[in-house]
Amino acid sequence: MTPMEILREFYDPDSRLFHILVTHSRMVSEKAIQAAAHVSHLKPDLEFIREAAMLHDIGIFQTQAPGIGCHGPHPYILHGYLGGEILNKKGLPRHALVCERHPGAGISKEIIVAHCLDLPARDMRPQSIEEKIICYADKFYSKTPESLHVAKRVPDIIRMLSSYGEEQAQTFQSWLILFGEKTDG
Ligand SMILES: [Fe+2]
Repeated sequence: MTPMEILREFYDPDSRLFHILVTHSRMVSEKAIQAAAHVSHLKPDLEFIREAAMLHDIGIFQTQAPGIGCHGPHPYILHGYLGGEILNKKGLPRHALVCERHPGAGISKEIIVAHCLDLPARDMRPQSIEEKIICYADKFYSKTPESLHVAKRVPDIIRMLSSYGEEQAQTFQSWLILFGEKTDG
């Protein structure tokens, strides 16, 4: 199955939410492929990146985000974990890890425990280069309907991540260097 076929199984293709999800995922996919070009020596799997970028937010419909048309029972912070469960059931465990490990700059077991987050207490930080690339690329794009195509400014991303702890911002800053982002503007 292609990523779009999988998305159509869980979303009404005529819905506003589907449009938001697919547009966002395409923006993340493009940014991810650009980032991957800067680490070609690490041989990232580009085909996998394209697929996983399209699927990374598949879990959002199960969460509460009424502004974009999500009316599920779970808090939004669970969308990565929930998406991972969906893709594991589809027999896509590698893609599932991208879902689980993409929120923020990844969520450590310590943060899950310290903040009593409603998540299994395990390390949810990206490990593979492909997981890091998609997590990184995702930070540049929101699912705010009016600004789906607008890349966020790096200082704004860092400020947002800092509010969840300095480690989040530091991880992202290390990726800026790794993926060759120009930060002077
Ligand atoms: Fe995303």
